[in-house]
Amino acid sequence: MSYDVKRIRDRYPALATDTVFLDGAAGTQSPLEVIEAIAGAYRAGTSNGGGRFATSARADAYAAAARQGIADLVGADPLGVVLGPNMTTLTYRFARTLADTWAGGDNIVVSRLDHDANIRPWLQMAARSDVEVRWAEVDLADGTLPVAQYDDLVDDRTRLVAVTAASNVLGTRPDVRAITDLARSRGALSYVDGVHSTAHGVSDVVAYGSDFYATSAYKWVGPHVGAVVADPALLAAMRPDKLASSSDDVPDRFEWGTPSYPNFAGVAAAVDHLAGLDDEATGTRRQRLVTSLTAAQEHEDALAADLLAALDADQRVTVYGRAPRRTSTVYFTVAAFTPAQIAGQLAAAGVNVWDGHNYAYEITAALGIRDSGSAVRVSLDHYSDAGDVARLLQGLADLR
Ligand SMILES: Cc1ncc(COP(=O)(O)O)c(C=O)c1O
Repeated sequence: MSYDVKRIRDRYPALATDTVFLDGAAGTQSPLEVIEAIAGAYRAGTSNGGGRFATSARADAYAAAARQGIADLVGADPLGVVLGPNMTTLTYRFARTLADTWAGGDNIVVSRLDHDANIRPWLQMAARSDVEVRWAEVDLADGTLPVAQYDDLVDDRTRLVAVTAASNVLGTRPDVRAITDLARSRGALSYVDGVHSTAHGVSDVVAYGSDFYATSAYKWVGPHVGAVVADPALLAAMRPDKLASSSDDVPDRFEWGTPSYPNFAGVAAAVDHLAGLDDEATGTRRQRLVTSLTAAQEHEDALAADLLAALDADQRVTVYGRAPRRTSTVYFTVAAFTPAQIAGQLAAAGVNVWDGHNYAYEITAALGIRDSGSAVRVSLDHYSDAGDVARLLQGLADLR
């Protein structure tokens, strides 16, 4: 295994500036490969897909390459990769389609840990169909999502269990497999939000046991493209609203309107880049992704451990989220400063961090911090380094 963060950082033009990017959970920077792939697609001439000329064939090839890239990234079948503008839009689309099959007396299970994009669409559809909503609660002491509660929550009238593979604020990685297994055993479908988790470590939809797995390329160095990944046979059994004139094939029937084909070129380039993070990784692209993302996760986890140790040593700091299985995302407050003041002063020092609920709307309320500005979120990504952490800590030491 060989992880050279300096070599990786050199691929990112934005990282050559004086700004410290610790805001990746809201969107990462992109390497030259991605920037060039998108620019190259525009430079070569763009067209809509499905035509008889070369630029149109190229557009179709970009879409196929994006599907294959995401399939390799999450261990799926490319024919089960639905592409769309972002996770939220796709989740509303899937929620509408699935809710068409729900009836009064059914129930769904959502989790308090999730980003609102994997809660609100389900709640709104449930309200329209007179479907009961059941909540999986978080252990507020450590930010874990206890699995045992699902045994009571899921029954043979449960139609859907929505759960995150990682919290975008607390970093918690729930035991997704235990939850999807239970859902399946009681006849419910599972919808797993992989938007935060895909950027941190290896994703494997077979290991997750998810019926649907959602991800967004802009969280893992790609452009603004979202995807929902499912078994093509499951997609074939679903009837989304669609135009009469558009393809009824799977996965195309879920894809509305004309997409950004040049962005699809960027998705494939992002996956290639991730596969090369470990410069000694060998084998198929999937194998290289597994090696590289494992190495990247070790790198991120080491940085997070250093950051958490420093924050723990600071009497002013409260860290939220102490799950044993977590991503490298750190969420905290500093006594005597609001999260907005902290993020503002860090911004003035050239350090980008987010403050606020970050759409983790339910868990920040449950923690009792949403109304006071929630907390500050620091994202450590595969391109982050010890210098970034040092600049952050200096900024926190300088708070006035
Ligand atoms: C965990 C998680 N889920 C869902 C979303 C929504 O993703 P998108 O912006 O692709 O709609 C986000 C975005 O921040 C997220 O972090």
